Amino acid sequence: MRLSKRSSTPQKNMASLRYTSSVIFWVINHGIPEELIDDVISVAQEFFEMPVEDKAPYYSEDPTKDTRLFTGQGFRKENIHFWRDCLIMSAYPVEKYEHQFPEKPDNLKRIMGKFVPEGRKLVRRLLELISKGLGLEEDYLTGDISEGSMKMVFNYYPPCPDPSLTLGLPKHCDITLINLLLQGNVSGLQVLHDDNWISVDPLPNSFVVNFGLLLEVISNGLLKAVEHRAVTNKNVARTSIAMAIRSTDDCIICPAEVLVSEEHNPPVYRSFRFPDLFEVFSTKNADDKEIMMKDFRIKN
Ligand code: OGA
Ligand code: NI
Repeated sequence: MRLSKRSSTPQKNMASLRYTSSVIFWVINHGIPEELIDDVISVAQEFFEMPVEDKAPYYSEDPTKDTRLFTGQGFRKENIHFWRDCLIMSAYPVEKYEHQFPEKPDNLKRIMGKFVPEGRKLVRRLLELISKGLGLEEDYLTGDISEGSMKMVFNYYPPCPDPSLTLGLPKHCDITLINLLLQGNVSGLQVLHDDNWISVDPLPNSFVVNFGLLLEVISNGLLKAVEHRAVTNKNVARTSIAMAIRSTDDCIICPAEVLVSEEHNPPVYRSFRFPDLFEVFSTKNADDKEIMMKDFRIKN
């Protein structure tokens, strides 16, 4: 999707999403300077390439921490270990969280300070377009529904001696409203389409947008959270950056009223709150969408 001030095509594109069950898309012409995008990817890579002593203070298995570094999907809970390091930071508003961002590399705080507000603006614009495309009020998705702590997720996949033996990230759906992903210039992201894994190759200066499970529920299944994964490669390290948009913990998530009718389009999901989904994600087999969503689905 090409975003620019003059063009009216985004609305049309979003409207056509109504009829597409399962999509990911790229956003280009988003207005965030390319240099800033390069800076955020570089600083993430620099962080992971620092000596262990500099990174160790941030290591934690406690998912409630605002800033934490961990390996795989959580080293203790996983049976197979994944080839990823991850720095996840609560990030918006920056003034609230920046004191918890890592002190090194020296320019990390400065770059986050510039990038996060720009990213948030883009997220807001996309949410307005998605709302309109679904036939909802423009601001339907911009309140509490998307104002839980926004996470900046730095993923780092070191070169892997034998990529056939492990993945960077297993098959999963994002447990968010939406995720915007910067892939840098090394491929590794794959999406599941008709039982086939399709590589989503990097497109310079673009964000990949994934619908998350919360949006699937709100749209009553019209927009599907797409299953995806990250593979590794032998030769080069890969750094990706995700902006993960969640609801506040109090916000009630349920299919939007105007999208359901008892007769023709009954609600597919019951009401719940984000922490209920997070609990399932933390305790059940998160790589199985059916198992993850079983408790939230209404059986008709
Ligand atoms: C994620 C994710 C894929 C990638 O962070 O949720 O799916 O390519 N990342 O790093
Ligand atoms: Ni993901």
